[in-house]
Amino acid sequence: MKIIMLGAPGAGKGTQAKKIAAKYEIPHISTGDIFRANIKNGTELGKKAKTYMDQGLLVPDELVVDLVVDRVNQDDCTKGYVLDGFPRTIPQAEALDKALESMDQKMDYAIDINVPDENIVNRMSGRRACVDCGATYHIVHAPTKEEGICDNCGGELILRDDDKPETVQKRLAVYHEQTQPLIDYYTEKGILKTVDGTVDLEDVFKAITGILGE
Ligand code: AP5
Ligand code: MG
Repeated sequence: MKIIMLGAPGAGKGTQAKKIAAKYEIPHISTGDIFRANIKNGTELGKKAKTYMDQGLLVPDELVVDLVVDRVNQDDCTKGYVLDGFPRTIPQAEALDKALESMDQKMDYAIDINVPDENIVNRMSGRRACVDCGATYHIVHAPTKEEGICDNCGGELILRDDDKPETVQKRLAVYHEQTQPLIDYYTEKGILKTVDGTVDLEDVFKAITGILGE
């Protein structure tokens, strides 16, 4: 099963992608997580990506496409995967389709998690991410057992650099301009499914499993 998660920054793509990956036993591929790991490790890719990410801008397509195409060609992806944060532009979607076609494959679902902009800024200011394993929490909606400590690995929790309200506004503007057109793109392909992302995260997951099947 090959799945794309669509939705504004903070809509809950990462939260739901992790749950999908665990239930259906497929890898969770997050381009944002890949860039953050590269930034943490001080790689050339990380240095380049950081200059865009800190401004709330998209990293150029040429730095993203090959990375994802290589990743979905790895052995653990034969049963499928869930893409989180990719594609994010029409050229990325077209490049992905072309790569899949050459392997005689196609995407099964594009799930759009719908959350209005008003809810997003508030959500992002409450998000906390683990510096070590990347797990995400929310101080109100998905709290850790012990404040400031990751349930998963005991790492320290931080507010992401790009979750400051002014950067979130920029990310939302970039989303509407460059990523939202993908909703029409995947509607035309006949694989778009929309879920309401404003309800409790377990209810969002129920709506998704209703689409993907038990
Ligand atoms: P990325 O890491 O992908 O960020 P994003 O798309 O802005 O999305 P987020 O990770 O912020 O949100 P999310 O939808 O995953 O929400 P989450 O589940 O955490 O990308 C970062 C940057 O990298 C980009 O800005 C760009 O520069 C670059 N980049 C990445 N991919 C790229 C690409 N393909 N091309 C070019 N550039 C790229 O949830 C948010 C919070 O809400 C959490 O605290 C969570 O606990 C909480 N929450 C989740 N669901 C609910 C719910 N139902 N109710 C209440 N709270 C909830
Ligand atoms: Mg995410």
